[in-house]
Amino acid sequence: MEIRFILNGQPVSVDATPARRAIDLIREDLGITGTKEGCGSGECGACTILVDGENRLACLMLAAQLEGRQVTTVEGLAEVGTLRPLQEAFVRCGAVQCGFCSPGMILAAEALLVRNPAPSREEIREGLSGNLCRCTGYGKIVDAVETASGPTRERGPLQPSAGEDGENNHAAPFPTASRIGPSRPTPMAVPTGRVFFPRNLPELWDRLKEEPEALLFAGGTDLFVRLRKEREAPPTLIGLERIAELQGVRRENDRLWIGAGMSHSRLIGNPMIGRHLPVLIRALESLGSPPVRNMGTLGGNICTASPAGDTLPPLYALDAEVELRSAKGRRVMPIAAFITGPGRTGLEQGEILAAVGVQTPVAYGTHHFEKIGQRKALACSVASLAALLRISPAGVIEAARLAWGSVGPTVVTAPEVEAALVGQRLTPALLQEAARIARQAVSPIDDLRATAGYRREVSGNLLLRLAAQPLKGRRDGESPKRRQKKGRSRRPTLRGIPE
Ligand SMILES: Cc1cc2nc3c(=O)[nH]c(=O)nc-3n(C[C@H](O)[C@H](O)[C@H](O)COP(=O)(O)OP(=O)(O)OC[C@H]3O[C@@H](n4cnc5c(N)ncnc54)[C@H](O)[C@@H]3O)c2cc1C
Ligand code: FES
Ligand code: FES
Repeated sequence: MEIRFILNGQPVSVDATPARRAIDLIREDLGITGTKEGCGSGECGACTILVDGENRLACLMLAAQLEGRQVTTVEGLAEVGTLRPLQEAFVRCGAVQCGFCSPGMILAAEALLVRNPAPSREEIREGLSGNLCRCTGYGKIVDAVETASGPTRERGPLQPSAGEDGENNHAAPFPTASRIGPSRPTPMAVPTGRVFFPRNLPELWDRLKEEPEALLFAGGTDLFVRLRKEREAPPTLIGLERIAELQGVRRENDRLWIGAGMSHSRLIGNPMIGRHLPVLIRALESLGSPPVRNMGTLGGNICTASPAGDTLPPLYALDAEVELRSAKGRRVMPIAAFITGPGRTGLEQGEILAAVGVQTPVAYGTHHFEKIGQRKALACSVASLAALLRISPAGVIEAARLAWGSVGPTVVTAPEVEAALVGQRLTPALLQEAARIARQAVSPIDDLRATAGYRREVSGNLLLRLAAQPLKGRRDGESPKRRQKKGRSRRPTLRGIPE
């Protein structure tokens, strides 16, 4: 298949297997070797590239996903013989030793500085939290990004995206296409097979009719990691990323419907979600790392149905509904009925998750989410809690919704804990009692990340934190902008790279 895109400002046309990984296309077929491969599973950031200005992971992207996109590798940042200020800052601050992580770090920093030209040190740490360095201290890397930051810093050679779905680029002329030979097969997640990108739902239904066994993917951050582990090579993949109907947030009467194809980053930046669903924003901010959030989608997180899926506890607490679509029509059901077990959902053959609906305004003023993981960044949760409380002006809890992640086969809700809170004042003694009941309500298991006993203990402890959180927590109706103006941290539990 001929894949055409703009690489470092130059049009490129390459004949490649569409399911080949983007990193192999860039490094091996095109010989652009600044992009490195470390883990191959999304955890180190060495393979960071910019796609339409967003940092993404080339080890978890298919060659076909580059079609029509603007792609920047580290080679695209340097002008002939001259380092750009960001690169110079890395050298001057001693932020490079072996240099293996540097291309990824610099591209992640570039994406951050384009979005936020004068980030704080905390924001720099957060922006680079998907990129690991084994030899230089992170302090020097943060120094380098800080040195290169500021409102007057020179902009990188990034070009604007051709459009939301990149379709405009398909029609764009490629005046000096350089043709490169067919790709060589290498051991990887999905080395062979066909990949399709329908642009709307009718096209998807037609494709699914022809290819009923095809695997669907949105961001690929779950599926491609799984395929790589299992060394599976599905015959056909269908990407949902260009389907317009799965994007955006729409209001219908008293409901917000969130497109299943929305990436986590886009949801975090969406003003309607920020205003009405702070509990969901907090969960999204703690999910993975910036590139994982740029690639992963809400629909993918729900359909993976992992007990550790970070968006699930908030959606259970909010009594969200899912909208399922197929060639036959549409059906709506509560999310709690949709998820039937670990990795299992109520999706039928030929059906997709199209949107998630939440009633607004949310009848709870206090939104809280906290996740306990083994480390600050890129941590799968050991236990998490989403809590919604309505507290009267006199300080009495009028209503409560609680949902725990990672402490049962699916999200755990506990009406008995909620009942113990309602009608009471929020005191440490009340929370101790609620925590005791919560520890009985959950049903955790031992696994590689934690023992069942530890998870049980933490499930209760997460509730104890409500004593401090509610009055500090964001209120429904407070926009992210207003919150930033007030100088509140975007996250109560910082998930950045370590000092
Ligand atoms: C390094 C790393 C860190 C991570 N950290 C976290 C974390 O902290 N918390 C967390 O919750 N997750 C984490 N994840 C998992 C993953 O990023 C998220 O679950 C993400 O939301 C998945 O979305 P996706 O679009 O990439 O899913 P995909 O991989 O594209 O799809 C996942 C599954 O859902 C199906 N699917 C996707 N969209 C639809 C749809 N609309 N309709 C029907 N089926 C669909 C696919 O067929 C597939 O089976 C991490 C992943 C990586 C690689
Ligand atoms: S190689 Fe580690 S994230 Fe891609
Ligand atoms: S400089 Fe060696 S891994 Fe970062």
